[in-house]
Amino acid sequence: MYDSTKSLKQSPRMSELIPVITKDEIEEVVNRLALEISSDYLRRDLILIAVLKGAFIFLSDLVRKMTQSVKIEFIQLSSYGDDTASSGQICLKKGIEINIKGSDVLVIEDIVDTGLTAAYLIDYLKSLGPNTVKICALLDKHERRKTDIQIDYVGCQVEDGFLVGYGLDYAECYRNLPEICKLQL
Ligand code: IMP
Ligand code: MG
Repeated sequence: MYDSTKSLKQSPRMSELIPVITKDEIEEVVNRLALEISSDYLRRDLILIAVLKGAFIFLSDLVRKMTQSVKIEFIQLSSYGDDTASSGQICLKKGIEINIKGSDVLVIEDIVDTGLTAAYLIDYLKSLGPNTVKICALLDKHERRKTDIQIDYVGCQVEDGFLVGYGLDYAECYRNLPEICKLQL
């Protein structure tokens, strides 16, 4: 059972955490995705670009389950600030430093919500001349989508509601929770 008393100590306000995806369920999903990606990119050079900060735990678990060698890069965008709703205004905080021209690129995201961040990211990366660009998201909040972006690898479909844990934050808190919870403010 989740110990909410412990996490409330790091909470910016009084809030309730409702478990949504357990540690075991996350592990199962990550294993499935790693297998799928490894078999699709068999004998191809793959560059994984993880979106900071939310995807850092997902990426580290995913790569350790993949069977081929991959290159890893990070990118950082922002659209949320300390709020639970996207401002819709995407800004690039950290671009990539490795050359992706002619390479197969897979973006690793924690969650796709409106899809505005993912759409921005795909446009930006395509402008750098890769061979292919696909997206892998641990979580897909498809109901709130505002773009027709295609997510190539989806971990779990989730309902509307603000999620935290396993890398996902609210105002920089809760990233280190080992499971994914819904935050009731
Ligand atoms: P989008 O542009 O609306 O698709 O939002 C994408 C980004 O917003 C994700 O990469 C997350 O960092 C953040 N985000 C969206 N929904 C949630 C959530 O439920 N919890 C935490 N972060 C979220
Ligand atoms: Mg993110």
